[in-house]
Amino acid sequence: MPPNTAPFNDFARQWEDVRADALRVVDEVGRSGWYILGDRVRRFEQALASYWGFSEAVGVASGLDAIEIALRAAGLRPGEKVLTTPLSAFASTLAIIRAGGIPVFCDTTEIGLIDLNEARAALRAMPEIRFLLPVHLYGFPLDSESLRALIGEFRLVCVEDCAQSIGATENGRPTGTVGIAAATSFYPTKNLGTMGDGGAVLTSDPVLAARARCLRDYGQTEKYRHTEIGCNSRLDELHAALLRDVFLPRLAAWTERRCDIAARYLSNWPSAAVRPIAANQPTSGEWRPCWHLFPTRVSHEKKPLLITHLRRQGIQPAEHYPCLIPDQTAMSGISYACFGPLKQAKRLAAEELSLPIHPYLSDGDTDAVLRAIADFSA
Ligand SMILES: Cc1ncc(COP(=O)(O)O)c(C=O)c1O
Repeated sequence: MPPNTAPFNDFARQWEDVRADALRVVDEVGRSGWYILGDRVRRFEQALASYWGFSEAVGVASGLDAIEIALRAAGLRPGEKVLTTPLSAFASTLAIIRAGGIPVFCDTTEIGLIDLNEARAALRAMPEIRFLLPVHLYGFPLDSESLRALIGEFRLVCVEDCAQSIGATENGRPTGTVGIAAATSFYPTKNLGTMGDGGAVLTSDPVLAARARCLRDYGQTEKYRHTEIGCNSRLDELHAALLRDVFLPRLAAWTERRCDIAARYLSNWPSAAVRPIAANQPTSGEWRPCWHLFPTRVSHEKKPLLITHLRRQGIQPAEHYPCLIPDQTAMSGISYACFGPLKQAKRLAAEELSLPIHPYLSDGDTDAVLRAIADFSA
């Protein structure tokens, strides 16, 4: 077995770093004797909302639930179409389906984000579409002015999938703040992950926030008064306390470290056969990804060879995402539509390969990744 030079995530090193703080938090929550929807959830919601620039955050059980609840709270009714991207975690579309919506997929740009020009064409062709679910994939922010213009032109209700984009900004604007609400995930591998599942709806619309709070808790507005058919999707006190006291205080430094690693990769890139997906984007100033992932592209034929080559050297790559959502078996029998042949998204699905970029990667690990990429092209 090769040494584990660069795992895709490194929870062993993370635990060494957070252990003392995490154990203290577990002890505090245990002693409090209050485990569901208490002060710790409220305090984390406030901290997260102010970190991100919203007036409200609603903690829920996962990123998937956050999207579904945000769509429902924003007024999505069963049978309504939602324009979205075919290249994302399956959860983005699953949330639309669970909310009763009909996903409509349009193509992406070369860097994997929903193509807003294609979206405009799709909206012209299907004027009945009222909802938009863009995804700031890989931690790459979408162009906020173009997104705002599209929302205004077609009077869209937009929920932004920010599961991968906490900390990313564009023109100084955090992702998620153009639409009516954002949804995020605290899955452990996310930039702000916890030690289990969790998610949040973020919004500055108090009516939407109140509805999301009601939906996450059986649709009740007060104890035993149910006004909606809700679900059980409550963030628990333990994860809220871990997030507020252990992980959120480290997020800015973690994001900075991800940005340093991306800059190190990009400025020393040694290969023409493997290319960073964001190679031609400005990496500072107006466009500031939070580098949830470091996606590259390599020809479809060479990808399996590159995966084997990297693994042999203890470097763990990952694919995001090798199969487009409309091509998943689970979509057979589901109502959906594709606008056009989704050419760019298909190419990306075939060619994308992500390299490790977690904040516990040392400069030495990063250099080992670059050496392995250089050897591959040699
Ligand atoms: C873009 C995107 N949307 C939604 C989700 C769903 O989040 P969760 O795994 O917390 O349900 C994820 C995470 O896998 C994601 O990457």
